[in-house]
Amino acid sequence: NIPDLAKTLGTSYALGAAIDQTALDSKDPHSELLTKHFKSITAGNFMKMDAMQPTEGNFVWSEADKLVNFAAANNMQVRGHTLLWHSQVPDWFFTDPNDPSKPATREQLLKRMKTHIQTIVSRYKGKVHTWDVVNEVISDGGGLRNQASGSKWRDIIGDVDGDGDDSDYIELAFRYAREADPDAVLVINDYGIEGSVSKMNDMVKLVEKLLAKGTPIDAIGFQMHVSMYGPDLKQIREAFNRAAALGVHIQVTELDMSIYSGNSEQEKPVTDEMMLEQAYRYRALFDLFKEFDDRGIMDSVTLWGLADDGTWLDDFPVKGRKDAPLLFDRKLKAKPAYWALVDPSTLP
Ligand code: G3I
Repeated sequence: NIPDLAKTLGTSYALGAAIDQTALDSKDPHSELLTKHFKSITAGNFMKMDAMQPTEGNFVWSEADKLVNFAAANNMQVRGHTLLWHSQVPDWFFTDPNDPSKPATREQLLKRMKTHIQTIVSRYKGKVHTWDVVNEVISDGGGLRNQASGSKWRDIIGDVDGDGDDSDYIELAFRYAREADPDAVLVINDYGIEGSVSKMNDMVKLVEKLLAKGTPIDAIGFQMHVSMYGPDLKQIREAFNRAAALGVHIQVTELDMSIYSGNSEQEKPVTDEMMLEQAYRYRALFDLFKEFDDRGIMDSVTLWGLADDGTWLDDFPVKGRKDAPLLFDRKLKAKPAYWALVDPSTLP
């Protein structure tokens, strides 16, 4: 019988976890872990575009409804992930409905985007606290992600109002979401921005420009798939400060901490020393989050998974290499990282 993590941390933001469907089954031990320690839930996969609207006009509500009802029954918030992404989006979005050999036109894609966003956001109005409106729109190579870097959204929709700017699909996605639920917190979410100054430069430029046009962006989501080796705290703080300077809030949306320094490393045994080192780094990160919570601008911190048995990092970036990035181990037992957050005096 260990302390309740979210409660013990005492943050004003709701501590959250990404889950798969098993955690919503009250007979499954993941469910107990979730309700005991967390106050916010994100679907790790099943609220993405392909899951919500696999074919045009056929929305699948069962899983998402289950999550939203589970959250309400357990007094938890929901983070909706995600309304628009270049990955896990069915091909039909980008195909001409009258001639599948042709790409969709701007008008067709905009209409589909609006329908997708507004159908989902209105159904969960008042029930989904925060939406990741757009996910990963910035390219690692600089600028907006485009066809060459894996996204068709920018190339097909492009510059709608003729002002020479090609981020209109992002602006419109936020406007559609706001229209459908004026009270939901709207997030632009991306990875690597806490650790890459040039990617953060692109994020800052983009958000600045969109805000100047009146785009309803409430927060920048920092996914924070970090490792035990970096990025360092100073750099993360600097990135958070740059977001804060824009006048938007901060969310940590997909936190986990790999034990590997990169993809060339072979699988290695998880040692006690390693887990202790991870614990101290988790503690330092949460102390940093507290600085921004104290300033009233940290809206959410979500772990990308409940326990090490369900981490996406077991398959990424090296297929089958086992990782140990979360607060609970493969048997759902609290790790030193958990103890570092509830009571660091228990650590050696
Ligand atoms: O459900 C099928 C299963 O039926 C099939 O047997 C199996 C075979 O590969 O695949 C299963 O689907 C996998 C799915 O996760 C559920 O486990 C997909 O292949 C796999 O691609 C998918 O990966 C997800 C990934 O997004 C896809 O891009 C990860 O679970 C999910 O954690 C990850 O989450 C993303 C965020 O949405 C955005 N930020 C990065 C983050 C990590 O990549």
